[in-house]
Amino acid sequence: MTLDTLPGLRAQLADPDLFREAALIAGDWIARPDMEVADPATGDALGTMPDCTAAETETAIAAAEAAMKDWRARTHAERADLLMAWHDLMLAHEQDLARILTAEQGKPLGEALGEIRYGASFVRWFAEEARRINGTIIPSPVKGKKILAMKEPVGVCAIITPWNFPNAMITRKVAPGLAAGCTMVIKPSDFTPYSALALGVLAERAGIPAGVLNILTGRPEAIGGTLTASAVVRKLSFTGSTRVGALLAEQCAPTLKKMSLELGGNAPFVVFDDADLDLAVEGAMVSKFRNGGQTCVCANRLLVQSGVYDAFVAKLAAKVDALKVGAGTEEGTDIGPMINAAAIEKINAHVEDALSKGAERATAQRDLDARFADPVVLRNATTEMRLAGEETFGPVAPVFRFETEEEALAIANGTPFGLAAYFYTSDMARAFRFGEALEFGLIGANTGAVSHAEAPFGGVKASGLGREGAQEGIEEYLETKAFHLGGL
Ligand code: SIN
Repeated sequence: MTLDTLPGLRAQLADPDLFREAALIAGDWIARPDMEVADPATGDALGTMPDCTAAETETAIAAAEAAMKDWRARTHAERADLLMAWHDLMLAHEQDLARILTAEQGKPLGEALGEIRYGASFVRWFAEEARRINGTIIPSPVKGKKILAMKEPVGVCAIITPWNFPNAMITRKVAPGLAAGCTMVIKPSDFTPYSALALGVLAERAGIPAGVLNILTGRPEAIGGTLTASAVVRKLSFTGSTRVGALLAEQCAPTLKKMSLELGGNAPFVVFDDADLDLAVEGAMVSKFRNGGQTCVCANRLLVQSGVYDAFVAKLAAKVDALKVGAGTEEGTDIGPMINAAAIEKINAHVEDALSKGAERATAQRDLDARFADPVVLRNATTEMRLAGEETFGPVAPVFRFETEEEALAIANGTPFGLAAYFYTSDMARAFRFGEALEFGLIGANTGAVSHAEAPFGGVKASGLGREGAQEGIEEYLETKAFHLGGL
């Protein structure tokens, strides 16, 4: 078949082979059209995927276990080279990867390209870190003895990833695991399997051996249940809701797996009277409207001190009114479709609840197709509203008013979640005081961006366990073995 006659998404790719409608198990691509995957902008089917069974999950786990022997025995430099080859292929195919991502997830193409580069940056970072998995030599309390603390791979890892970052959430988990010498069974979201599968194609081309990286598509129950119950799987890394994270933790308890959980957030975004207002508005746009508000680190509650409240709302509303909403493939789109009808329902319910309790729209109301959410700034938000306590996961910016720093801190920390928090001030003493008092894992002071491969990413309280990225990220895939050497 020539490129021109290939149907749908495949026809739009320079390398159509990157679009796979098949699971990757033990080096074999298993194609079975059990389920459809929809384009969130239109609802049309993009393609199909297998709904992998418990038995197929067992096969993938066994393949990962068998592949461990050779993979962990390779030198760190060898694994680093393979990861760098994978990274280079991701960048060489970044346009195709971005197209696949936009088609299944909806975010604008430019943002999708940003995610591919962000995703690749984790692979590069952990390829570099692979050579620095150092142990230590500890002075022994006993003569003639040495104690070595050795770092070893945890083992077979289960990786369960969300739909909002179908590329980067995989690389952020898989790259440190591979660098450490672990092997992987990945379960991408059933809304966005194709970005994961394209990464699988590129991993194969990079020379990562069969069985090291397995990708199971389909509904979560059978796959997740088998992964969590397996005694062979020694670690689970999950990004998603706190409810599902807690459920997975419960399922993993009998086999006592190591766990990394990156869960929900309810980020405060605090603007003090002494802030650079334009910088704060710019930061709010980045933090609130990235991926249409569908990120765990999105500002969920904007708290603005009364002296600059009206000016901030006016500036923010003007920017939000200028945002273009449309299909991610359309030129100039800032906000794409939401992932599904349930997401739109929750967003609308939050806005209606706020309006019924006294909030007012500061932005013009748009008449949009049902797959798209109206980006809105709400003035006069209060802590009685649903959106104060729950993550909206959409383009809704409720602005709360506060008078004092103490009041702002109490509202900001008044949530069971503790992922990201942002604040803007020109007072350095306040920056340290306030930043240290915030009960969150990620703090943005005078910045709305907190996501970089070099920085530890993760939350406290109901936002999860463990850290991804940075030097900490690789530790999550390592065990320490105390090696006592006597008779010296
Ligand atoms: C997330 O929303 O879970 C991840 C966002 C990020 O990495 O910036």
